[in-house]
Amino acid sequence: MDKKEKYELIVSQIEGLVSGESDIIANMANISAVLHHGMGFWWTGFYIVKNKEQGAKIEDNYSDYELVLGPFQGPVACTRIGYGRGVCGTSWKRKETIIVPDVEQFAGHIACSSESRSEIVVPLIKDSKVTAVLDIDSRELNTFDEIDKIYLEKIVDLI
Ligand code: SME
Repeated sequence: MDKKEKYELIVSQIEGLVSGESDIIANMANISAVLHHGMGFWWTGFYIVKNKEQGAKIEDNYSDYELVLGPFQGPVACTRIGYGRGVCGTSWKRKETIIVPDVEQFAGHIACSSESRSEIVVPLIKDSKVTAVLDIDSRELNTFDEIDKIYLEKIVDLI
């Protein structure tokens, strides 16, 4: 099976899993599991945009927010990432998918695992605001391309 065929199967599996469930954490957890095991990635998971202080007023001030580790599959990861920091914080800031063919070439990359060599981060956007990012790491260089971008953007749209 080539990559496209694997993603086609995964997308229909995820559609089935999320269609009957409205809880975002449950859906993120199952999406991480299906992608991680179906595609054989090294680390697959979500970081969720949250207020730094619980109960703080929700304003358009990004310094009040950060990415906090959500459901994932793979080794232990960093728990908090600031706006504009690392690949995840940069995807949040730019509101776009970022493909990193070689993490050593990405200035500011946050190495949660020394094994990670390439990475893709896809933002979840609701009402033109980023609410979370899907982060996937590979132990090989140049793992991710436009095919991953297209399918992963489709998958995060299902949440
Ligand atoms: N490499 C990410 C940090 C998260 S871990 O890869 C799980 C980054 O630079 O934002």
